[in-house]
Amino acid sequence: MSLILAIESSCDEMAMAVLKDKRNFLSSVVASQIDVHAKYGGVVPEIASRKHVESVTVVLKETLEKAGVAMTDIDAIAVTKGPGLVGSLHVGLQAAKALALTFDLPLIGVHHIVGHIYSNNIDEDIIYPCICLVVSGGHSELVLMESEFEFKIIGTTLDDAVGEAYDKVGRVLDLPYPGGPVIDRMAAAGNITYELPKPLDDGSLNFSFSGLKSAVINLNHKHVQKNMPINKDDLAASFQAVVINSLVSKTMDALEQYGVKHLMLAGGVSANRGLREAMEQACTKNSITLRLPPLSLTGDNAMMIALAAKLMYDNNEFSDLSLGISPNIDIENESRSMKWKK
Ligand code: KG4
Ligand code: ZN
Repeated sequence: MSLILAIESSCDEMAMAVLKDKRNFLSSVVASQIDVHAKYGGVVPEIASRKHVESVTVVLKETLEKAGVAMTDIDAIAVTKGPGLVGSLHVGLQAAKALALTFDLPLIGVHHIVGHIYSNNIDEDIIYPCICLVVSGGHSELVLMESEFEFKIIGTTLDDAVGEAYDKVGRVLDLPYPGGPVIDRMAAAGNITYELPKPLDDGSLNFSFSGLKSAVINLNHKHVQKNMPINKDDLAASFQAVVINSLVSKTMDALEQYGVKHLMLAGGVSANRGLREAMEQACTKNSITLRLPPLSLTGDNAMMIALAAKLMYDNNEFSDLSLGISPNIDIENESRSMKWKK
């Protein structure tokens, strides 16, 4: 039996979870700061790290209490080491190192995106080879996995991540932060009436969303200047349709090019209802099995960090107490650096 305490603090959530064995969660707590950052229209890094300092011990206490365990019962500490906001990552990492030192426990440094990908391990083992479409606030990537913890980036965004484009469009349309979930709801109520450019139709597996984002912003600006009303629901529907089209078609191309039959989605934007439906339809049509993370595991949380950490724990992939944050490390380098993979 193993008990892993996982800590995730890479952005504006302080999250912790206790995992027993492979996938039996005793507790999971997410302390969101969204209300604080919403006032500024986005995450303010300095405020995020200060709030983390305030909440880290409170969340730890609550997570252990909910799990009905004490620190002396825990077998390993897992923590997000990056990518993310430097100040935010530091708070979680320092807490993890202090706990590992005090209770003489192994430390497991987990890559944030690896965590998102392994949220798909929640109900049953991932089937390889597979492709994961990672869509979050900071990443839009197609990742090929031939086997466990082998990551090859076969497509990436050349500019804005898809979540970032959603949030910037949301800001221009005066929607509450974060814009992604709001635009998703509005899109369901609107019709596709505005013509927007198709992003990066170049036959590659890369994405580009900044041209589309600018087109939406310009369209809105023109309407405001001419004092013409704009139907925000319809604009949301039109924007979302182009985004989904690009994500689905590039993903299907990737599956075909690599002869892969299993697909997973991961990251905050994988909560998008339109994207989930469109991907389900495309997968049925192309005889692909699709795995979608439960909605509770799409945004940042510590369960995903624990799920990835458990596989590292079983393979003795531990970090020493000098572990530092890696704000920018990509997942290809991450898997190459693993002792268990050499
Ligand atoms: O994975 P995540 O929680 O944090 C990062 O690692 O970035 O992703 C957050 C992003 C935000 O940009 C948010 O607007 C977006 O995910 N998001 C959505 C939806 N829910 C969250 N975007 C589109 N539709 C949604 N339903
Ligand atoms: Zn994330």
